[in-house]
Amino acid sequence: MIQVLIYFIGTAGSGKTYLTKAFADWLDFKNLENIIVNLDPGAENLPYSPEVDIRDYFTLEDVMLNYGVGPNGAQIISADLISTKIGDIKDEIDYFDVPYVLIDTPGQMELFTLRQSSNLLIDFLGRDRSVMVYLFDPVVAKTPSGFLSLLFMASSSVFKLKLPQIQVLAKSDILEDYEVERIVEWSDDPETLFDDLGREVSNIKNISGELFYMLRDLGLFRTLIPVSAMDSTGMEDVYDGIQEIFYGGEDLE
Ligand code: GTP
Repeated sequence: MIQVLIYFIGTAGSGKTYLTKAFADWLDFKNLENIIVNLDPGAENLPYSPEVDIRDYFTLEDVMLNYGVGPNGAQIISADLISTKIGDIKDEIDYFDVPYVLIDTPGQMELFTLRQSSNLLIDFLGRDRSVMVYLFDPVVAKTPSGFLSLLFMASSSVFKLKLPQIQVLAKSDILEDYEVERIVEWSDDPETLFDDLGREVSNIKNISGELFYMLRDLGLFRTLIPVSAMDSTGMEDVYDGIQEIFYGGEDLE
């Protein structure tokens, strides 16, 4: 059996935790064995019971007390502390021996994408079997400049983590159908984004235009998959995207 590790990454509140749960439920429904790894030491009231949980090793509160720092400092120290628990996390994952390992990353995405401990973790758990699902926040993605900014952030996480990426439009249920269609069109056909950007910003020749050309010319636009944790929209498409990356479309099992 080949094991795939799926990292859910996105800005704070973009829906990582609920999408992780929704995808796990969908895999359960398809009888595809999976476990969830929670990497957020500050997580409260998770909607799932993680099989592997960084909070079993330390919590944000422990770090605040032990290091005498506030919540932001503790988040940064915690992100680095994860690297000291990599062996334990791997042992726990290996114990379950399932084909799909879903990894819910900490709230603020920079805590995962920018810290070196994340690359150490990815290497140790198996880089060649890893993929990231990057969540676009629907409220931000609604405007052309917001969409472009999110694409820039998504691209920077590819650059830093060097993993294949599936891009999803999170919480698509809160958008009107026409908004979802327009956002997906931007991702499919960058020139439509360029036109809409021109209508939004006063001078397209400024930084927006340059950023647009850079992302387009580097081939960083991907078709966005609308998903919703509330009604399970898009789960099959995410699954197909994973199969496509590792097996050219054939099922893992
Ligand atoms: P942090 O890790 O705390 O930064 O957040 P997160 O990215 O894990 O987001 P989370 O999954 O906790 O979702 C944030 C909020 O959005 C919660 O109140 C969820 O109820 C809500 N939410 C998540 N997914 C969806 C969705 O698909 N549709 C709707 N309508 N709400 C959602």
